[in-house]
Amino acid sequence: MAKFIIQGNKKLKGEISVNGAKNAALKIIAASLLSEDKIIIKNVPDIEEINRLLELCQSVGSSFARENGEIEMQTKDIKQTDLDADLVKKIRAAVLLIGPMLIRNGEVRLPHPGGCAIGQRPIDIFIDGFRKFGAEVIENQDHYHFRAEKLKGMTFIFPKISVTATEVLMMTATLAEGKTILKNAACEPEIPALAEYLNRCGAKIEGAGTHTIVIEGVKKLSANIYEVIPDRVEAGSFAILGALCGDPIRVTNCRPDHLEALWSTFDKMGVDYELGKDWVEVCQTQKVKSVDVVTHEYPGFITDLQQPFTVLLTQAEGISLVHETIFEGRLFYTDKLKQMGANIIMCDPHRVIVNGPSKLFGRHLESPDLRAGFALILAGLIAEGETQIDNIYQIDRGYEKIEERLQNLGADIKRV
Ligand code: EPU
Repeated sequence: MAKFIIQGNKKLKGEISVNGAKNAALKIIAASLLSEDKIIIKNVPDIEEINRLLELCQSVGSSFARENGEIEMQTKDIKQTDLDADLVKKIRAAVLLIGPMLIRNGEVRLPHPGGCAIGQRPIDIFIDGFRKFGAEVIENQDHYHFRAEKLKGMTFIFPKISVTATEVLMMTATLAEGKTILKNAACEPEIPALAEYLNRCGAKIEGAGTHTIVIEGVKKLSANIYEVIPDRVEAGSFAILGALCGDPIRVTNCRPDHLEALWSTFDKMGVDYELGKDWVEVCQTQKVKSVDVVTHEYPGFITDLQQPFTVLLTQAEGISLVHETIFEGRLFYTDKLKQMGANIIMCDPHRVIVNGPSKLFGRHLESPDLRAGFALILAGLIAEGETQIDNIYQIDRGYEKIEERLQNLGADIKRV
């Protein structure tokens, strides 16, 4: 099994470019199944999560060609009603296919996607939403069976803000009969990006990016060209890298306006950074101050940056509280930072206290999930000595060729 070996304690310098957003590309790929036409998707990252979704789409009838970050994809017919259980277990984003498959085939069987390292991740909101569209949903021992002759517009109030459930119900509503109103919807930038694309294909969506989305169903959607927006999690991850060891690091091809909560937290800590329209330059700052962070839906502090940010907090002077409000299992990786020398106390599964600054030391560790895996890379880069990270498939799920991009900044990181 591949692993990363990092020799730490080095300053890094140069430019690192941000790829297309994983969490936007996944949704566009799934939305392409709403139409029989050919879509061209540009700026698609070459990462495991995307590869798995493409495999899943292929298994139900999609064909695609891929070159230099561009995917040409078409789903003339959906040939399956059953989604492959092995693939669904690997990729939770499989839930994105429920809507298109139900609309085009009247039926879909989704094997239980199960929980994952960051929490239980139930799909109750999706099920309630589809029932409101008029679908019949039966839960069997090993799968959910969705069935509907036709879907009808409805009003749905999300009991809790959910990014993917908002996207799934929004895309399904584009082809449901009549008007759908989604209230307490998520506002993450990937949602208006998806709505903008669907509207170019003939959908009638208003309000995406706010908490109320109104969709007037249409009979048919065409397909179009879509360029994936820059990945705000990558941009933030690299900016945090700059704050830890940048001499300086310039993060390019990004949307700094999607990360306002990170910049205001940097301000409180005294991090040395400068923002441009599509770049941010960050320098390692001595004596950054501790700060409390609470993860929150957009535009609050994003849960996907909580892990890299906690590494920065291990280097801040004083006590910081990290309150993870979105997922119940997203702080257990802090045990691994403790093994490296960080002074972290877990109060409960949602809260840790970080007492900094602490010198970190290289260790042999395993990546528990994608974002925690990147946090371990960051910790390894600033630690004294050698860090080995196993289970890097988790990191490859979301960061393309990360070792090569870090090597370009002068990092001593190898994939072996
Ligand atoms: N939830 C339910 N029931 C549901 C759906 C969600 O209880 O039916 C709960 C979740 O368990 C969680 C909360 O609602 O406690 C919010 O989860 P949400 O549904 O918003 O998360 P998601 O859509 O599954 C996306 C990203 C995640 C990111 C979260 C939060 C994708 C493919 N994934 O997940 O990204 O952390 O939103 O912003 O868009 C990552 O990239 O590493 C990643 C995990």
